[in-house]
Amino acid sequence: MNTTLAFAQELDNNDPLAYMREHFAIPKQKNGADEFYFTGNSLGLQPILAKEAVMEVLDSWQERGVRGHFEGEYPWLPYHEFLTEHCSQLVGAKPEEVVMMNSLTANLHLMMTSFYQPHGKRTKILIEDHAFPSDHYAVESQLKHHHQDVEDNMMLWRPRSGEELLNHQDLYQMIEQHGDEIALLLLPGVQYYTGQVLDMKTITEKAHAKGITVGFDLAHAVGNIELELHQWQVDFACWCSYKYLNSGAGSVAGCFVNEQHVKNPELTRFAGWWGHDKSTRFKMENKFKPIPTAEGWQLSNPPVLSLAAVRGSLETIALAGGIKPLRAKSVKMTQYLRALLNHELGQRIVIITPESESESGCQLSVMINLDANNRHLDGRVMFDALEAKGVTTDWREPNVIRVAPVPLYNTFEDCFHFVRLLKECLA
Ligand SMILES: Cc1ncc(COP(=O)(O)O)c(C=O)c1O
Repeated sequence: MNTTLAFAQELDNNDPLAYMREHFAIPKQKNGADEFYFTGNSLGLQPILAKEAVMEVLDSWQERGVRGHFEGEYPWLPYHEFLTEHCSQLVGAKPEEVVMMNSLTANLHLMMTSFYQPHGKRTKILIEDHAFPSDHYAVESQLKHHHQDVEDNMMLWRPRSGEELLNHQDLYQMIEQHGDEIALLLLPGVQYYTGQVLDMKTITEKAHAKGITVGFDLAHAVGNIELELHQWQVDFACWCSYKYLNSGAGSVAGCFVNEQHVKNPELTRFAGWWGHDKSTRFKMENKFKPIPTAEGWQLSNPPVLSLAAVRGSLETIALAGGIKPLRAKSVKMTQYLRALLNHELGQRIVIITPESESESGCQLSVMINLDANNRHLDGRVMFDALEAKGVTTDWREPNVIRVAPVPLYNTFEDCFHFVRLLKECLA
């Protein structure tokens, strides 16, 4: 392979999305140079448009006070509606199936309130063994809320002994054998530790064939890979907006509810006035009539400053032409990074993220094995050493450095320098 800096620069010169980097604030190293930022899988960088949109809300508040709810180019009362179109395109949904509201774990709870109703023999929730802790806690507490024994009712899909990745055949076997006991399957679209992309389409088909409801946590999938939630007939999905959606720490999250459920007023739900019919919301009556879209799950009037950041960010993604061209660049860039890592560092690292295009997104999860003298190394020490050289990656216990070249703002040259600096650290 061509391992030169000139080759990386040539790839950047031929990149049709290279201009998008200008739309982001890139953090600086102490010497004033751009950081090598590879942590979009944790917190995406700030889009210039996000800052502008937040300033627009602050200005409107300053000028108009309460009238900001109704006046200006982006009045606050319907503010979340300005996000719907872009958001539905990102996840492959109809506009009535998506809403930006609350935060990720809160939305998981709201969804489980509607879609986990144990009855008869069907009482179990199936998750993966290494689920993100918040998802694990949410599921555990939902089981307890329904007075279900956690030990008996939390089914865990585990990687095989000695393996890191989840094997789909094992899941399909669990569905086949225990399908009539499983009420809900809650899985990630992209596993946060390994970066493995799950086959959401087939999982949903197999689960539905056994009468199981299917929800996905798309925290690491949205803005990273292409999604077709409506076509795959997923029941619900939730995601945050601070990773590949670049909307700022703790910003407002997203939620998908399948078309076939949104019009069902009988579904159990925790309700609030923002989910109530818009035409009578301000009549201040006490008969809840849910909006017949995903908006019907909203609780409170939303934090508009945060929604503004989401608006600026989604508009930035739209400037790039949406998820398709971003994914095309991402595949190319991540493959380049993988090839360079393997070529330059060989046995000294192990990339646990699957290699095939259908099973991986931006992120590579790298285990550091050996130093230049083949001595075993503590990955955490390497992570710190990289940071001291202006490379921002992300450490996940027990033993992984996550590196995510993000097609919106990373360059092939960033990838080149990452490998060069990691090699220096290992030496
Ligand atoms: C896969 C996954 N699920 C859940 C969460 C929790 O998100 P929040 O704190 O926004 O509820 C995260 C946070 O990074 C995550 O990566």
